[in-house]
Amino acid sequence: MDKIGIGLLGYGTVGSGVGKLLKKNAEDIRLATGRRVELRRVLELPGFSSPELDPALVTHDVEDVFGDPDIQVVIELIGGTGAARDFQLRALRAGKHVVTANKQLLGQHGAELLETAEQNGVHLRFEASAVGAVPIIKVLRESLVAAEVSTIFGIVNGTTNYMLSAMSQTGAEYADVLADAQRLGYAEADPTDDVTGKDAAAKMAIMSSIAFHSRVTLGGVAHEGIERITAVDIAHGRRLGLVCKLLGVARLIDGAMNVRVYPAFLPAAHPLAGVSGAYNAVFLESEAFDKIMLYGPGAGSVPTASAVIGDVISVVNTAAGSFTKNCLCYKDLPFFPSADVVSRFYLRLHVVDRPGVLARVAAVFGEQDVSIRSMVQEGGGDAAELVFLLHPAREARFFAALERLSGLDEVQGEPSVVRVEE
Ligand SMILES: NC(=O)c1ccc[n+]([C@@H]2O[C@H](COP(=O)([O-])OP(=O)(O)OC[C@H]3O[C@@H](n4cnc5c(N)ncnc54)[C@H](OP(=O)(O)O)[C@@H]3O)[C@@H](O)[C@H]2O)c1
Repeated sequence: MDKIGIGLLGYGTVGSGVGKLLKKNAEDIRLATGRRVELRRVLELPGFSSPELDPALVTHDVEDVFGDPDIQVVIELIGGTGAARDFQLRALRAGKHVVTANKQLLGQHGAELLETAEQNGVHLRFEASAVGAVPIIKVLRESLVAAEVSTIFGIVNGTTNYMLSAMSQTGAEYADVLADAQRLGYAEADPTDDVTGKDAAAKMAIMSSIAFHSRVTLGGVAHEGIERITAVDIAHGRRLGLVCKLLGVARLIDGAMNVRVYPAFLPAAHPLAGVSGAYNAVFLESEAFDKIMLYGPGAGSVPTASAVIGDVISVVNTAAGSFTKNCLCYKDLPFFPSADVVSRFYLRLHVVDRPGVLARVAAVFGEQDVSIRSMVQEGGGDAAELVFLLHPAREARFFAALERLSGLDEVQGEPSVVRVEE
């Protein structure tokens, strides 16, 4: 088999990047693999047109892809969990290898797809589904397979990182920064998946399933977004030497998994604090190697396409055997409850400035065994604010204290809460 035929489903942002790279690097790919990797069909919706794509390759009927015996690899870049799921399952059942960047599909239906790939003796590869161009899946699956990775900790969403960086640099509010990000193309018209943390959660589900060898789906990843982060909190953080980031955090605690996405303050000297704009960075931790940090663009047409092509090359190079296991979730670990995780918190309370307020707030913390590391009072009268940095405490205890504080007569409005990582 000296020729590998590709069927490409979807010719949007990433699909067109794949088309371009396959054409531009055809000779390099042939020299690297000993095979000619050739785009044979592109599935698109009726009405589609692209000046750079040979119209003879375009079809609106997916059977033209599945029924072509010269197509060995199907690349799904439609996105979503509807047609994309159906097409991937049909491609796998038709004996085609599948490569995709579809994080939501993998995060929700990974087990079904990987099992179907296994049953049909074909590959399902998804490097571009987590952290775009950064080769983290391959590193976890292959390079670190025996290293018992215990923590994945990082910035895995470029849109929110861009927005938090912009809020920090300009002092602007969330809504203004979101509007700018949409205008500049850093945020989509519907930014929900990004700003609520759902995009990051899907990536964390995919990465932690591989790192921990135990299935994590999107539903198993509690996610908080950045919608409630205000310019005031970011400014307070800066005064305290802290930088706000949306973090994906997956930890093995006492043999159980805790996988979450939340905004957190980091010390300004932390390596992740310096990751700004649309970039992503992830720390992997293990007793075997301490820490490894991977850094790079998490999205974009050509960067993401390069990860897709990398998967095609892996498939081509290993299709005859060797490393063909698709699913590495051979364990069934329990989940560690978030309420029992020990965390540090930043808390900003809007209070009525009257004698005894501080003592009442401190008493509530005391009742829950939450101790105060530092406290700053800003303003006075009706506009008084108390900004606390707290020592590590079980999250259940902190949130119990928060509920009690919210019920005090002197506490007004919604408290601001951000975790602090060190
Ligand atoms: N963009 C990134 O930087 C990036 C990074 C990492 C991962 N990803 C993932 O890559 C995948 C593709 O993302 P993208 O940004 O390239 O999306 P996109 O620009 O919206 O491209 C999707 C393409 O598929 C077409 N399409 C939709 N439904 C179809 C169907 N039923 N049959 C045939 N074609 C169909 C769309 O046509 P219309 O335009 O006519 O609807 C569009 O051309 C997603 O899973 C995404 O999460 C993207």
